[in-house]
Amino acid sequence: MGGLTKKKEVVLPKKEETQSVNDKLQSKKEVLLQVKDLKKIYKMDGVSVHALRGVNVEFYKHEFTSIMGTSGSGKSTLMNILGCLDKPTSGNYYIEGEDVSNFSKDQLALVRNRKIGFVFQGFNLLSRTSALENVELPMVYAGVPASERHRRAMAALESVGLKGRENHHPNQLSGGQQQRVAIARAICNTPSVILADEPTGNLDSYSSIEIMGIFQRLNQQGISIVLITHEPDIAEYTQRVIKIVDGQIVSDKRNDKVLLASEEIKKHKKPGTEIED
Ligand SMILES: Nc1ncnc2c1ncn2[C@@H]1O[C@H](COP(=O)(O)OP(=O)(O)OP(=O)(O)O)[C@@H](O)[C@H]1O
Ligand SMILES: [Mg+2]
Repeated sequence: MGGLTKKKEVVLPKKEETQSVNDKLQSKKEVLLQVKDLKKIYKMDGVSVHALRGVNVEFYKHEFTSIMGTSGSGKSTLMNILGCLDKPTSGNYYIEGEDVSNFSKDQLALVRNRKIGFVFQGFNLLSRTSALENVELPMVYAGVPASERHRRAMAALESVGLKGRENHHPNQLSGGQQQRVAIARAICNTPSVILADEPTGNLDSYSSIEIMGIFQRLNQQGISIVLITHEPDIAEYTQRVIKIVDGQIVSDKRNDKVLLASEEIKKHKKPGTEIED
């Protein structure tokens, strides 16, 4: 089209690119996690799956980021490496400036315990154990004394709105409540970052907004969050949205219109409220 009259194009940076550069300059954000040319190849039965094909990204302190992408695009693979649950095939990973790429399994476990809190789609709670004991468990591994464990777990459960439910078992709690137990468990060791893989994937829309509200509150208190989601509605609650296609980051944008869960929840009817006891 217009091949003969084609002028030399002036390429302006896209709006979101300038914004993100300006953001970095203005607030001099501190890098929390950084990966360089990260690759992950799974080998199975002689077949190689290139799950990550050279990912470069930085996550900053106090940031709330979401990662989006279709099924199989490499989101969980990236998150497992960020969470020190798995190692890359090649590339480097830095946590607060320290290169952990060549850490042993034991060293990674130590970093994981000290710096990272996990929240998963399926809650991953122990079913025969109370909410309180589920929250206390990672602190057992971290060597926190029993009385301190109890105090912290009670406070964490209260902070996610579960005061009075401490002795309930997972099957006595709703999905949203179970996810809140998982969040309480994730925050007990005061992690630098929470990694959440589809945390609202099994929840109704009301409970999803409640969970996003808890994450927003934790983020305001200073915890960094990296959250995987399939749902664009959920990504709207986060400050930055990264998209992955086929093991590569294809877009990384600031969200200028972050939805506030505390406001959005007012527009939704709490499920079950129409039924009288
Ligand atoms: N342990 C594994 N062994 C072999 N292949 C794997 C393994 N884990 C993931 N894969 C493959 O790597 C690719 C990326 O998988 P990954 O789980 O990271 O995707 P995802 O984006 O999290 O998808 P979903 O949205 O379905 O959770 C997929 O093709 C998957 O089949
Ligand atoms: Mg996944």
